[in-house]
Amino acid sequence: MQPELRISVSISKMSTLNKLRLRQRLGKYRIEKRLGEGGFAEVFQAMDTIMGTRVALKIPHATLVDSELLKSFRREARLVAKVDHPGILQIKDASVIDGRLVISFPLGKETLSDRLSRRMSLETIFSISDQLLAAVAFAHQSKVIHCDIKPENIIMFDGSVMKLADFGIAKVARQTVHGCGTGTVGHMAPEQAMGRPSVRSDVFAVGLIIHRMFSGQWAEWPYDWPLNGHRRLRERIPATMITWLRKALELNAAQRFRDCVQMRNAFARLRPAALRIIQRQRRRTRAGKLDTAKPAGRTRRAA
Ligand SMILES: Nc1ncnc2c1ncn2[C@@H]1O[C@H](COP(=O)(O)OP(=O)(O)O)[C@@H](O)[C@H]1O
Ligand SMILES: [Mg+2]
Repeated sequence: MQPELRISVSISKMSTLNKLRLRQRLGKYRIEKRLGEGGFAEVFQAMDTIMGTRVALKIPHATLVDSELLKSFRREARLVAKVDHPGILQIKDASVIDGRLVISFPLGKETLSDRLSRRMSLETIFSISDQLLAAVAFAHQSKVIHCDIKPENIIMFDGSVMKLADFGIAKVARQTVHGCGTGTVGHMAPEQAMGRPSVRSDVFAVGLIIHRMFSGQWAEWPYDWPLNGHRRLRERIPATMITWLRKALELNAAQRFRDCVQMRNAFARLRPAALRIIQRQRRRTRAGKLDTAKPAGRTRRAA
C-alpha cells in the first residue's frame, strides 16, 4: 500500500470513532469529567484503574490524528522532557489507545485563569510570580521558548503550586525564530502578534500575568503605559517593582529583559526591600483602621 493511502485509511477509520463519553473506558483509564478544550485536543479527568490515581488526559480530536499530529506531539514531548523542572508540567505517559492518542499528566485543581476569579493574598501573588519566573527562566536557560504563556496554560495544584503546561507551539531558541506566531492574541507581545516572536515575547507574557495579579485588571492592547489598573498597582507595590514590571512590558522588545533569567535575577535583587516596604505599609494601614474603629470617647480617655 502506498503511504498516502495507508494514512487516509487510518484517518477515515478514526473519524468514525464516537465522541468520548463520560465513564467510558480507554485502556486502563476511566473518563470521569471533561476539564477543558484547547486548540487541538480535549482534556478530561480520568481514573487510572491500575494505579488508583486520578490523572488529566489530553486527547487530540479523533479526526485530527494523523502522522502530522503524531510528529508534532513527538516534538512537544521531547521539548517538555528537556525542561524537567518543578514549575513545568511533565507528561506522565502517552500511548495510542483504540486509535486515539492519549497523553496523561498530573491532575491539577484548576487553571490560573480560574484562580484569578477569586481574591488572592499578596503572599499568594508573590509565590505564583516566583514560581512562574523560575519555570520560564529554566525553560529559557534550556533554550526553549514557550510562545503561549497565559493563565489557561498554567495549572494550579494544592498549596498554590503552579505548573506551566502546553508546550504545543514552543520552540527551541535560535537566533531568529520562525513560526511560534499562533499564540493567543490578547496575551501576546506586539512583535509576536506581528509574527516575530522571541524569548522576549515570553518575558512580556510573564509581565502581563504578574501585572494582572497585582493590579487586579488585564492590561489591554496596545499596551501603552500606564496600563489598566495602574492606580491599584501603585497602592499595592513599591516603585522599584513597578519599574521592573514596566521593563518587562516595554513595547519595544529590545528594551525588555533579555530573557526570564535576567528578569528573575532583577526581581530577586529588589524583592526583599519591596517586601519590607509592603509589610510596613500594611502595618500602617491596619493601625490606621484600628484607630478609626475606636470610639471617640474611649480614645480621649486613653490619651
Ligand atoms: N493537568 C491538568 N489538570 C487540570 N486541567 C488541565 C490540565 N491540563 C490541561 N487542563 C485543562 O485543559 C485546557 C487545555 O489544555 P492545554 O494543555 O492548554 O491544551 P491545548 O493545547 O489544547 O490548549 C486547559 O486550559 C485546562 O483547562
Ligand atoms: Mg492551551
